[in-house]
Amino acid sequence: MRLIFLGPPGAGKGTQAKRVALKYKIPQISTGDILRKAIANETKKGIEARSFMEKGQLVPDEIILGIIKDYLISQEGKNGYILDGFPRTINQAIELNHFLEELEVKLTAVINFKVENGVVIKRLGGRRGCKSCGALYHLEYLKPTKENVCNVCQGELYQRNDDTEEVIKNRLLVYERLTSPLIVFYQRLNLLKEIDGEKDIEVIFNEIIAFLEERL
Ligand code: AP5
Repeated sequence: MRLIFLGPPGAGKGTQAKRVALKYKIPQISTGDILRKAIANETKKGIEARSFMEKGQLVPDEIILGIIKDYLISQEGKNGYILDGFPRTINQAIELNHFLEELEVKLTAVINFKVENGVVIKRLGGRRGCKSCGALYHLEYLKPTKENVCNVCQGELYQRNDDTEEVIKNRLLVYERLTSPLIVFYQRLNLLKEIDGEKDIEVIFNEIIAFLEERL
């Protein structure tokens, strides 16, 4: 199963990708997580990406495409993957199509999470993630049992430095301008499944699973 999770920042792509990945035993390939790891490890790509991410801009395609190709090659022949946060531009989507053609494989579906900007701002302002295992929480909607401590691994929770009001606004503008045209792109390829991302986390998960079970 090869899936793309598409949607604005804070739409719940990561939250659902983790659950769906667990259910189907496939990896979640999050370009955002890969870049944050590269920044933490101070690799060349991380150093290049940092200034773009801090401002809420997209990291240049050359960096992203290099990263994603390595991951896709390592996953082919296995059970597939969920691409979370990639592609994000028409150029990235075209390059992905070329690459999948070379590998002689096809995408299963593109799940598009629809969420209004006001909801995004509330969600990202309250988001916390675990430093150790990456589990996601929200100060209001998905509280950890113990303040600032991960339920799964007892790791420390942190707030992403691009989750400030000013940077969130910029990320939303970038999404509208560069990423939202992908909705029509994948509609035309008959791959798009629209999901109301404002519903409850469990309800959304069940909708995705029901859709995927029909497709398989
Ligand atoms: P990335 O890390 O991909 O961030 P994003 O796309 O902005 O998405 P988020 O991770 O912010 O949100 P999400 O949709 O995963 O929501 P989540 O599940 O966490 O990218 C960061 C940066 O990296 C980019 O700005 C760019 O610079 C760079 N980058 C990455 N990929 C790139 C690419 N392909 N090309 C170029 N640059 C790239 O949920 C958010 C919060 O809401 C959580 O607290 C969660 O608990 C809560 N929540 C989730 N679902 C619900 C629900 N249904 N109800 C209530 N609360 C909910």
